[in-house]
Amino acid sequence: MRLVITDSYEQMGLEAANIVAGQIYLKPNSVLGLATGSTPVSMYERLVLVHRTVGLDFSEVTTFNLDEYIGMRPDNSQSYHYFMQENFFRHINIRQENVYIPDGMAEDTVAEGRRYEQLIAAKGGIDLQVLGIGQNAHIGFNEPDVKFAATTHKVELDEETIQANSRFFNDASEVPRYAISMGIKTIMMAEHVIMLANGKNKARAVYKALCGDVTPEAPASILQLHRDVTVIVDKEAASLLPADIHDIQIKNLCR
Ligand code: PGA
Repeated sequence: MRLVITDSYEQMGLEAANIVAGQIYLKPNSVLGLATGSTPVSMYERLVLVHRTVGLDFSEVTTFNLDEYIGMRPDNSQSYHYFMQENFFRHINIRQENVYIPDGMAEDTVAEGRRYEQLIAAKGGIDLQVLGIGQNAHIGFNEPDVKFAATTHKVELDEETIQANSRFFNDASEVPRYAISMGIKTIMMAEHVIMLANGKNKARAVYKALCGDVTPEAPASILQLHRDVTVIVDKEAASLLPADIHDIQIKNLCR
C-alpha cells in the first residue's frame, strides 16, 4: 500500500488524475472502475483538463461505475448516470457504448448484478479502480456488515450514508434507501486501486481503513490485503494517522 498525503483537495485530485492518465497512456484500451460523490470531482476536472490541453485519449477506454441508486432513472439529476455525464463523460472523447453503470431501474437486481459482473469479465476485468470512502468506511455502497459481500448486489443504505448524502437532496427523506453496488470481490479483483479521501469528516474512516483490523465492519479495511493500492488523502483526512506514517506503510506492505 502506498500512501500519499496532499496539502489540498485539488492536489489530491491532481495526484489521482496523474495515475489515471498514466494508466491510459500505458494502455489506451484500459478498463477503469469509477466513483461518484464529491471526492473525485477534482480528479475528473483535472482529467478533463489533460484531455483538452494535451489530448489524453479516452476513445478506447471502457469504464464501469461502482454503483447507482435503485429506482433512479438515468436522466434524474440525482442519479449517478447523470453525475458521470455532467462531471466527466460529456467533456471527454469516451464512446458512450464503452460506459457502464449499474441499472438502478432493473426489476431483477440479482440478474442485473450477474449481468454487470459478466460485462466486467468480458472486458477482461478492471485495470484501475478509483474509490472514495464513506464516513462509515464503506467503499462503493458496501456498508459495514458482518460479512464482505462479494459481487454486484442490492444494498440497503446505512442511516449514516443517507444522512451524509442528504446534502445532495432537499432533505434526507428524498435519499433513496437502496442501491446496487459492485461487491468487495469485484473491487478486490481490480489490478490496481486508488482510494481518495479529503476532509476531517473522513479522518476516522481513513484511520480504520489503513490502521484498523481487516473487518467487514470497516469495509475499506479489506484494501490492506490488496497487492496494489495507492491511498491519496489530504492532510485533514490523514489527521488521525500516526505521525510516523512510514510504520503504517511497512506494516501493510508486510501483510
Ligand atoms: P463523497 O462520498 O465523495 O461524496 O464523500 C464518498 C463515498 O460515500 O464513498
